[in-house]
Amino acid sequence: MNAFIELPKGAGPIGVFDSGYGGLTIYDEIQKLLPQYDYLYLGDNARTPYGTRSFDVVYEFTRQSVRYLFQQGCQLVILACNTASAKALRTIQQVDIPSLDPNRRVLGIIRPTVEGIGDMTKTRHIGVLATEGTIKSHSYPLEIRKLFPDIEVTGEACPMWVPLVETNEYSCEGADYFVKRHIDSLMSRDPEIDTVILGCTHYPMLIEKIRKYMPQGVNIVTQGATVADSLRRYLANHPEMESLCTKGGTSRFCTTESGGKFCEQASLFLNHPIKVENIQLT
Ligand code: DGL
Repeated sequence: MNAFIELPKGAGPIGVFDSGYGGLTIYDEIQKLLPQYDYLYLGDNARTPYGTRSFDVVYEFTRQSVRYLFQQGCQLVILACNTASAKALRTIQQVDIPSLDPNRRVLGIIRPTVEGIGDMTKTRHIGVLATEGTIKSHSYPLEIRKLFPDIEVTGEACPMWVPLVETNEYSCEGADYFVKRHIDSLMSRDPEIDTVILGCTHYPMLIEKIRKYMPQGVNIVTQGATVADSLRRYLANHPEMESLCTKGGTSRFCTTESGGKFCEQASLFLNHPIKVENIQLT
């Protein structure tokens, strides 16, 4: 992202970005809670998954995606992807936005997810299931300890879970093996865990299997509703940004993959058909 690209002035839709389909689980909750706004969803499906990629690559891909959303008029962009929030958010906020347009904002989803966690755990032992990139970044333990220094956090990377969702194999019998394996591993590493965060926006699609293999009584935390409520509060507290979000109640969807493929899969996430545009990121 550099200071020389032309950005449209004035209000625009709220941008929602993910490496693929997972961010639709966040978009869906945001749109239900705040239907008055316009939205532009971007899935970088051609380059998903991000979870196994290096810091530099995730940062570069996320930067290109944010720049695209800015060029489309978005003043506010939500990184509806934990991997991008963990690996790219801080640099984008500190380095790219000031040089590009200091009035625009990019928000992540890790901080809002952990804010309510202190009230949910009795044992003060929490588990995080996420991509390899998110786990290796240590973003969850770092954010949790800032707010709740007494909470013990154990992370488990689940590298096969995103591919199972992206390839529409999340309901198949084979998926049980991978879901059970990582839940068993997490719980054996810390049997005192009473609350588990699904720290990847794809994972709600595996929720039935996750519930099946999670020990009884363990709270399972998904992100959509929490992130949506946090955005509602953000807009209420930032009227200068709220006034730059257009209110036509529309949603546009873009993907770097074929539109047809995205349409088919996205309707499983959203339970209704959508129109999709294919775009290229540079
Ligand atoms: N949905 C993304 C997340 O929340 C990651 C998917 C991927 O690995 O690309 O981390």
